[in-house]
Amino acid sequence: MMDLVSRLFSRGQPVLSDAGPADAEAIAALHAASFRRGWSDSEMEQLLVDPNVVADRALLGRDLVGFILTRRAADEAEILSIAVDKGARGRGLGRKLLRRNLQRLAGLDVRAVFLEVGAENAPALALYDRMGFEEVGKRERYYGHDLTLDSTALVLRRELG
Ligand SMILES: CC(C)(COP(=O)(O)OP(=O)(O)OC[C@H]1O[C@@H](n2cnc3c(N)ncnc32)[C@H](O)[C@@H]1OP(=O)(O)O)[C@@H](O)C(=O)NCCC(=O)NCCS
Repeated sequence: MMDLVSRLFSRGQPVLSDAGPADAEAIAALHAASFRRGWSDSEMEQLLVDPNVVADRALLGRDLVGFILTRRAADEAEILSIAVDKGARGRGLGRKLLRRNLQRLAGLDVRAVFLEVGAENAPALALYDRMGFEEVGKRERYYGHDLTLDSTALVLRRELG
């Protein structure tokens, strides 16, 4: 049976735009559905008001189907989280969100971006690999995506510009 997002997709493509504090509740809900450890609405709102956080969203009609959050520090940035609704995965949306966010970061003079990802998180690893990220380190006993309980995290990095 087609799920809601698949049915919505048949009516059009998601639209990407900047995310802000008004999206906190929807982003927290999608984050909670995608990761083992969630963020509350107010924690999410605090992130979204932080001027160093660069957030993008994908809307299908009025429904949030994807987001990415990064945080800048000097000329580097860290990907805090990226998720696409389960029914919308595998259609290039994660890649579009990441590409948009990296373009915004480059426009803010960020020179390099890094992140931690569970070593068994194949979809995320595929996404980052396709987008030019390279492994620069490893961290043991990491709790991240719900498929990667207590696994090893890989530290990935990509230069911009
Ligand atoms: C990781 C995630 C954001 C990817 O989003 P997505 O919209 O499905 O990704 P895309 O469709 O843009 O795919 C990007 C690339 O990754 C590959 N990919 C995506 N899902 C894959 C899977 N399940 N297995 C293998 N490769 C996969 C695609 O083939 C694509 O490469 P290609 O275009 O060269 O074929 C999504 O799976 C997700 O939300 N996962 C849960 C949250 C999470 O783990 N976030 C990352 C934390 S670090």
